[in-house]
Amino acid sequence: MNPTVKYEIKKRLLSAKGQPVSGQQLADEFGLSRTAIWKHIKELEEEGFVINSIKKKGYVLTSSPDSLQAAKINQYLTSKRFGQSIHYEETCPSTQPIAHRLAQSGAPDGSIVVCEEQTAGKGRLARAWTSTQGKGIWMSVIIRPEIPPTKAPQFTLVAAVAVTRAIEDIAGIRAEIKWPNDLLINGKKCTGILTELQADMDRVHAIILGIGVNVNQLETDFPEEIQSIATSIQMVSGQPVDRAQLIARILHHLEIYTDLYITHGFEPLKILWESYSCTLGKRIKASMINQQIEGLALGITNDGVLQVKTDDGQIHGIYSADIEIQN
Ligand code: BTN
Repeated sequence: MNPTVKYEIKKRLLSAKGQPVSGQQLADEFGLSRTAIWKHIKELEEEGFVINSIKKKGYVLTSSPDSLQAAKINQYLTSKRFGQSIHYEETCPSTQPIAHRLAQSGAPDGSIVVCEEQTAGKGRLARAWTSTQGKGIWMSVIIRPEIPPTKAPQFTLVAAVAVTRAIEDIAGIRAEIKWPNDLLINGKKCTGILTELQADMDRVHAIILGIGVNVNQLETDFPEEIQSIATSIQMVSGQPVDRAQLIARILHHLEIYTDLYITHGFEPLKILWESYSCTLGKRIKASMINQQIEGLALGITNDGVLQVKTDDGQIHGIYSADIEIQN
């Protein structure tokens, strides 16, 4: 069986959105017999696609498995660059090193790596990130903005806004952003973003934006030790979410905000980030590698640095820390 033909048939069925696709037309197009097309259809059925064969009309796709394969994401894509190149893995240790390798070998702006399961998902500050099979979005996006490395932290905040907007559009839930880029729903974490760089002293070559979204987990899908602090979109909305659709929406916003950032700078994005923030105006405890600071979170600077006013009136700039919100 030719995997390219099967992929094209899958794409055709998905983009027909429930309308029949003629078996004869597929056969003519791919220079194959009707029987060969039928064999591809049978293979797709074995993968979990439900396909009805209607006499004189063709094949109708009535349901497809909840997978993140390229053809599935493609049907929802509205972005022009982002998601145009999709690298899919069923399972992998982490999407980040794969994206790093692809970026090094010249993958274009907006290329993505997605998988169903990560066996060694990475979080910020060298923590592990639980990435249960088929339940979430485990994705790395390669972005190539022409900016100096000092501006890269701003980009992390841009990504947090893009994911927040996408969740709002698809699930109708307004998540809040905890500085710098954790998305919380009802105070529990549903999304984490890990930003890694390929850069020299003056120029970013690629930002590898690792996005982890808890989408369809139930409480028991999380390890016991994080059940009290983690949540998923489904746990809040009560509805399963089509992960491919959510990915396409994230890419939609990420592309728009990247372009806005390039044309207008960080200022408009900072305003958006502040409107979703649950950190500003709150008393917080910031834990750094060898220091802790408690005080009032005043705002973020144009470089994405969190400004905290301690009780002695001093203002501190926090570049990277674990934040605990105290009121
Ligand atoms: C955090 O909040 O600590 C960041 C979590 C980032 C998780 C994502 S999932 C996709 C990508 N691959 C990884 O190994 N990590 C990021």
